[in-house]
Amino acid sequence: MGKKKNLSVIVLAAGKGTRMKSSYPKVLHTIFGKPMLFYILRSVYRLEPRNVFVVVGYRKELIKEYLLKEFPRAVAVDQDRQLGTAHAVSTASGCRKDMGSQVMVLSGDCPLILPATLARLADKQARTKSSATILSTVLADPTGYGRILKDGQGNVVKVVEEDDATKDQKMINQVNTSIYCFDRDSLFDGLKGIGTSNTQNEYYLTDIAGELVAAEKKVTTMKLADYVQVLGVNDRIQLSGTERIMQQRINEKLMAGGVTIRNPENTYIQDTVRIGPDTVIEPYCFISGNTRIGAECMIGPFCQIADSTIGKKTSINSSVVLGSSIGEENNIGPYSYIRPNTRTGRKVKVGGFCEVKKSAVGQGSKVPHLSYVGDTDIGERVNIGASCVTVNYDGYQKHKTVIEDDVFIGSDTMLIAPVRVGRGAIVAAGSVITDDIPPDCLAIARGMQKNLEQGAIRYRKKKEKKDNRRS
Ligand code: UD1
Ligand code: CA
Repeated sequence: MGKKKNLSVIVLAAGKGTRMKSSYPKVLHTIFGKPMLFYILRSVYRLEPRNVFVVVGYRKELIKEYLLKEFPRAVAVDQDRQLGTAHAVSTASGCRKDMGSQVMVLSGDCPLILPATLARLADKQARTKSSATILSTVLADPTGYGRILKDGQGNVVKVVEEDDATKDQKMINQVNTSIYCFDRDSLFDGLKGIGTSNTQNEYYLTDIAGELVAAEKKVTTMKLADYVQVLGVNDRIQLSGTERIMQQRINEKLMAGGVTIRNPENTYIQDTVRIGPDTVIEPYCFISGNTRIGAECMIGPFCQIADSTIGKKTSINSSVVLGSSIGEENNIGPYSYIRPNTRTGRKVKVGGFCEVKKSAVGQGSKVPHLSYVGDTDIGERVNIGASCVTVNYDGYQKHKTVIEDDVFIGSDTMLIAPVRVGRGAIVAAGSVITDDIPPDCLAIARGMQKNLEQGAIRYRKKKEKKDNRRS
């Protein structure tokens, strides 16, 4: 995209966002788990600007904390009272000397804006040597937006807000997107002339258009055909609409790259996720964070996968996988719960109602039914029977279990950690294993069975006598 060393950016984020009906600032409301502000700043930073200022006010401590964590280079500027968008920009005037010759202003509530559009806007302002270039778009229903008034030659006259517009002006559907690129000095000098004589008694940044025109400075517009990019979020209905558009963008990009998504409308994939070709995503999947899914996988239905790597040709059905690395050609689920720091080799099976935590499962091993495996190293070609538990917690500390290659663990076995099962050993079903098992041993640790001859008959007789007495 190219470095824009002369460009400074001001993002307006001081407003409360009254229509959100929230105790949190509007720009921290999330889309796909990330605040709106994240998307705007990510697009802005793609231009590699000289610096970025974020005007904060309502619950500014929350926004500052977020910036410090995710965008430490952004400079927060305090607007203590929210007197309007022009007032917001002028609070940054103290930083004027650090700014480049171009200043872009955008509001914190338009998360769908793309970096290429911002770059084009900056280029147009520079190329046309405009004092201001306003990004505009045409909306079928422009209600709520500022309208751009032009003269007979198509020159900008001014911008009129909805509340101040006449009936005729309201018919105009070329609107202000609230994204502008200014010549720095024209911006800060122009701001000085703005007053509050409007319906809302606010300092409107939009008034700068009229101010500059009156001072015979050049004001141009750049019309954006793709209006979706500049849809503002003012309430929770628009928030969900924006999330849907974001979801559609992400899913369509994946599909264009060779991923089948059976029902994109109920598939939620964050844009940080990478998925290989010929993988099929069944409905109701939530895939997020730093997740990498290989080619030819079958994912879903009903999966939640976060921050995990999934090898190629693996199938995961109705399961949760968090912070783990699943190998190639695995078969996971239905109803597996794979918790962080789990690693599986090739051709591993983790089956129905199994939970695996912080464990390694080697190539060709199987944990097929109703088991808990935690803090365990399982070697290759191991079979764990149904309902086995690695008993890793003694109420104070976690302990490790090691199960070496080619071990067979019978159903309903408790392995009381710390414990090691040697290579090739067999554990009889129903055992409670407290001591290490040497290689190739058969371990059996359960109450031995007695068969009492005729015992069932004696038992029934005794029972029936008791019943006769009762009736
Ligand atoms: C604004 C524009 C309007 C445009 C629309 C596009 C003005 C006066 N109007 O209207 O022409 O069509 O955006 O979405 O600019 N803010 C501050 N401090 C303040 C006031 C606002 O930082 O004192 C911030 C808000 O947090 C928000 C942004 O500025 O991020 C825009 O304010 P908002 O109230 O949403 O303006 P709109 O009514 O949408
Ligand atoms: Ca707005």
